[in-house]
Amino acid sequence: MRKQIVAGNWKMNNDYVDSEILVSKLLVQHKHSNTEVIIAPPFTNLLASINALKGSSIKVAAQNMHFAESGAYTGEVSAAMLKSIGVETVILGHSERRAYFNESDDLLAKKVDTALAHEMRIIFCFGEELKDRKSGNENSVVESQIKKALFHLPEADWSQIVLAYEPVWAIGTGETATPDQAQDMHAFIRKTLANAYVQSLADSVSILYGGSVKSSNAKEIFSKTDVDGGLIGGAALDAEHFTAIVNAF
Ligand code: PGA
Repeated sequence: MRKQIVAGNWKMNNDYVDSEILVSKLLVQHKHSNTEVIIAPPFTNLLASINALKGSSIKVAAQNMHFAESGAYTGEVSAAMLKSIGVETVILGHSERRAYFNESDDLLAKKVDTALAHEMRIIFCFGEELKDRKSGNENSVVESQIKKALFHLPEADWSQIVLAYEPVWAIGTGETATPDQAQDMHAFIRKTLANAYVQSLADSVSILYGGSVKSSNAKEIFSKTDVDGGLIGGAALDAEHFTAIVNAF
């Protein structure tokens, strides 16, 4: 059985106090279930969130990390630093990192290797832009993104990988892929994995959908066979909305 996961990506939102408030609201509303719940606050709120969530099943992820072990990389944060405060999961390849910070597939492959070397789990994001979908190239774009960053990994490493399909045109735009569009792409991704590895591996990897998931559309999206959960941006900043999305399973 694949794991069902709902992860909240706070992006560059919430200062220390806002974060404490949101975490405490999530704690009150959270009910233990089969769905794994993850929040990804900014770096400045990671440790406080981890401490506040001790004893709860809500997990904490980082939104990014550098590929190097340490050194002269002003402003960056390493895998070892994250691990030292108890962060076990990192989001890599988010479209905002790709678009605004020029993160390429090659760079992401390096980050993936470093995270795995530190036994971190990775939520790996990818997805096509509007022009790709309009020209009917969404499958080849997605295939190339996952191939370049992930297909050098041995089978065993895939137990640490969660995939997050996030069509760029649906992120923060209010426009969501239809449940059928999400299902078609997730099924394609699983088939691509099965072709590159084996069917059992493809069947075991959780594939999340991200892009304007809200409490009003989560249930229908999550009901699709190959959709194993969501990566939530805007709606993750509100405890009630986020919890309603978690409960949509
Ligand atoms: P959104 O963001 O839910 O605000 O569209 C999703 C994401 O960027 O992960």
